[in-house]
This record gives sequence, structure tokens and C-alpha cells, in this order.
Amino acid sequence: MSTAGKAASFLPTNIIVTGGCGFIGSNFVRWVAKEHPECHITVLDKLTYAGNPDNIADLSDEQVELVIGDICDSQLLDMIVPVHDAIVHFAAESHNDNSILDPEPFIQTNVVGTYRLLQAARKFDVRFHHVSTDEVYGDLALDEPRRFKPDDPYKPSSPYSSTKASSDLLVRAWVRTYGVRATISNCSNNYGPYQHVEKFIPRQITNILDGRRPKLYGNGANVRDWIHTEDHSRAVWDILTRGRIGETYLIGANGELDNLHVLKTILRAMVQPEDAFDWVRDRPGHDRRYAIDPSKLERELGWHPIHTDFQEGLSQTIEWYREHEEWWRPAKEATEKKYAAQGQ
Ligand code: NAD
Ligand code: TYD
Repeated sequence: MSTAGKAASFLPTNIIVTGGCGFIGSNFVRWVAKEHPECHITVLDKLTYAGNPDNIADLSDEQVELVIGDICDSQLLDMIVPVHDAIVHFAAESHNDNSILDPEPFIQTNVVGTYRLLQAARKFDVRFHHVSTDEVYGDLALDEPRRFKPDDPYKPSSPYSSTKASSDLLVRAWVRTYGVRATISNCSNNYGPYQHVEKFIPRQITNILDGRRPKLYGNGANVRDWIHTEDHSRAVWDILTRGRIGETYLIGANGELDNLHVLKTILRAMVQPEDAFDWVRDRPGHDRRYAIDPSKLERELGWHPIHTDFQEGLSQTIEWYREHEEWWRPAKEATEKKYAAQGQ
């Protein structure tokens, strides 16, 4: 019953999006709702601290339905999965700093939750796309010419990335052993609207809007490979509809920048002095550099990023946070209190 290597090539009409009230999941739901109005979307989301139903509240009830529930709940999955033709799996505990403080929810949602979804996909023969991260490959040296490739060995560093790596391995095994029609994508750091204020870019933007000083970990030399979340959404759709079953695709937009550079770009765009920030305690085990080689995705599926001007994308993101204070304000105080308690 091997399905591996076959192109999925199908147009789903009724999908489940797990974690569709979070940052990347809600941007994906909004993108599909706009670009594929023929596709019905059931969002399955537990609404943790990171999930906000307002992110999709303006979309039509006919096209987008929200089911509040846990991906670990197999009884619930048995009820909702059978009438759907695909599961696009974004739900996760997603923040490295939180995983260092308390790994338990990461094991539950990222590992057990993915296992339960895979079992449901297997039972009801539903196409499965697993959204993962480049962090499963560990980190690169700052001066290494190499970038991550799909077949690189897994070397995760943090509780977060090790649970994402575990979930990827489950997906690979369920394809091989049970013939589940699954694909995996590992994407680099996303930015854009609706990102929680705990993450690097929104934290610094909202700190400045709030009259607080931005906070930079360590020496600011760590490199992340930035991609606009809309480019990520398009890539996930391309893989879901045309990707080869059993394959891993890396998603990245050639956006390598060090944290100090990103922070200075934010400060300049918000008309602040370039040194108006605080150096704070480094993250334990802080990965030095991530960098994606997206050539497989470009070659096989013809995907290319559209948002290639980082400064422009960042300015639009800053504007979004400026105009949506009611969206980020409720989470800001508690997030900063938690960071302050860790000297960050
Ligand atoms: P997020 O933290 O903003 O959102 C996660 C969503 O999942 C929330 O809506 C939350 O309520 C929901 N959720 C959490 N646990 C759940 C559970 N047990 N059952 C149902 N819903 C649950 O995360 P994000 O940044 O949007 O990341 C989405 C996915 O993309 C994750 O799988 C993450 O690993 C991956 N990813 C993120 C990035 C990034 O830069 N943020 C980069 C690459 C990959
Ligand atoms: P983050 O947004 O947490 O994403 P990830 O850990 O998945 O890369 O952090 C991005 C980078 O920014 C990472 O190198 C840590 C750094 N960082 C800071 O310097 N200051 C901050 O306040 C935060 C939240 C992150």
C-alpha cells in the first residue's frame, strides 16, 4: 500500500486547519478563504494563550467554521475528520523560551497531538500536511557557507525543536508503515500580522509603541532566515495540492539577517535612535544561525517568494501593529512580566 513518491495533485474542497487561530495558521486560513473560495475550512483550535478567534472572526461563517477543541482528543477527531478531505496541521506550542521554562505542554501538543491526528488521518484515509520548522536541523555556524537541505540529519537543540523533530519523525513513519498520504514542510522564521507579542519582531515593535526599550539577547549576532507569512501560506497550499507524498519540502525566502540588524531596521523605521535598546540575558542553548535552501520547492513546484523586500514587509508589519493596538494590548503586560522575571 505504498503511496510514497506519488504527487498528491488534488484540489481539496473541505479541509481541517489545526491551530487556525494562531499566527501562521490564521494567516493561512485568511489566504485560502481569499484565494480559494470553493474550499470550506474547519479550524480546530484549543485557543491557548496563543490562539485568538478574532484573527478569523471577519471571515464568512459559511466558508470558515471554528471548532474549539484539542488535537489530542481522539473522540473529537473521530467526529470531525471523516467528512474532510485533508488536514493541514499548524497547531503547536511554538515558542522556544516557553519550552525552556516548561516543556510539558510541548510534549503533549507537538508529539501526542500529532500522533492522534496521524491516527485519525490513517483511520479515515485523509490527506495530511504537517507544518514544521527548520529548527529540527539544529543550527549552523555563522560563517558556514552551507544551508539546510531536506535530507540533512535532525539535530534539534531546544525542547521546542526536539518535539517538532519528534512529530516529523512520526509523520515519516506513518507514511512508510501505514501508507498515510502525508507531506512535511519545514519553514524558517515567519513575520507579518497577527504574530504574538512574545516573539522577537512583534515584541520589539510593541515595546517601542508602548514606550519600553526593545530587548536583544546575547550579542545580537544570531541569524534568522526571515520569510513573510503570506509566502509561507502559498507554499503550504502548493505542497498540499501538488507535492509528492512522503516528501519533505523546505520553505525559505533567502532572508538571512542577524538580530541586531533586524532590531536596528525596526528602530530606524519607527524613528528611534539606533542604540535605544537593552542588551539582556541570552537564551540557554541559543541556536546561532538558521538558513534554508528552498531549491527543491522552487524546482518541483515552481514556488517563489513574493515578499522579497524585507524592509517593506517589516514597515507594513509595523503599521499593522500601530493600527491594531486593541489586538496586542491584552497580552502585552503579562508577556513582559514573564520576560522580566527571567532577566529578559
Ligand atoms: P502560534 O503559537 O501563534 O499558534 C499556535 C496555535 O495552535 C494557537 O492558535 C493555539 O491555540 C493552537 N493550539 C495549541 N495547542 C493546541 C492543541 N493542543 N489543540 C488545538 N490547538 C492548539 O504558532 P505559529 O507561530 O503560528 O506556528 C504555527 C506552526 O508553524 C507551528 O507548528 C510551528 O512549529 C510552525 N512554524 C512556526 C514558525 C514561526 O516563525 N513562528 C516557523 C516555522 C514553523
Ligand atoms: P523568536 O522570535 O523567539 O524565534 P526563534 O527562537 O524561533 O528563532 O526569536 C528570534 C530571535 O530573536 C532569536 O535569535 C532570539 C532573539 N530574541 C531577542 O533577541 N530578543 C527577544 O526579546 C526575543 C523574543 C527573541
